[in-house]
Amino acid sequence: MARLWAVVPAAGRGTRFGGELPKQYLPVEGAPLIAHTLAALFAHDAVEGAVVPVSENDADWPRWTELAGKPVLACVGGASRAASVLAGLHALPDDVRPDDFVLVHDAARPNLSLADLTQLLERGRNDPVGAILAAPVRDTLKRAGDDGGIDATEPRERLWRAFTPQLFRRLQLTRALESATTDGVEVTDEAMAMERQGLRPLLVEGSESNFKITTPADLARFAYELAQRHR
Ligand code: CTP
Ligand code: MG
Repeated sequence: MARLWAVVPAAGRGTRFGGELPKQYLPVEGAPLIAHTLAALFAHDAVEGAVVPVSENDADWPRWTELAGKPVLACVGGASRAASVLAGLHALPDDVRPDDFVLVHDAARPNLSLADLTQLLERGRNDPVGAILAAPVRDTLKRAGDDGGIDATEPRERLWRAFTPQLFRRLQLTRALESATTDGVEVTDEAMAMERQGLRPLLVEGSESNFKITTPADLARFAYELAQRHR
């Protein structure tokens, strides 16, 4: 059976969220946000362990070495999300093979459901390239002018919002992120790095509840949904 590890980038500063403590460490129901994220990944039997890129001298990282009986390895992340993920890929155990799939999942996305993760793994591991969770755009899209007025309405057909986890093979993803770095292209997700290589990752429709915590309102929503789950 192929190995399956997760890389969970957590080296961001959370500038849009604000505050002293980076958002991935804010307590929700007595545990830091990232504990909920790791628990959501580890809920799937196939996920063996996680590498967590954190910022250098990160005093807030809880220094776990395992959670739910699965190994957690920390490494030093980078100045961009892509650099952090690349550091995480390098820090994977040596016995994770070049063609083994790796899940990359934002530390700031704690509300991933087991159903979505299962879907992604079932569809993605049968795809030659890999897959990402995503959702079709439902709102009407407007292009703004410099004055804040509407210049145009953009067609939303075939437009999707990219979520994580994103599932790719260890070596292919490493090469793709390295190439983006070399070319000076800032990729905002792993799929974008793969697309630059001429590869076409699969879109797997996931739930809107797998939102990213960006602002305090998002955190309030997660706390609410978690409380509902535990009622
Ligand atoms: N991330 C990372 N390394 C970076 C930047 C981001 O590991 N240099 C991680 C964040 O910790 C987060 C995920 O990538 O788990 C998604 O990034 P985002 O939501 O943008 O978090 P931040 O970059 O921390 O927030 P902001 O952009 O508001 O500063
Ligand atoms: Mg960011």
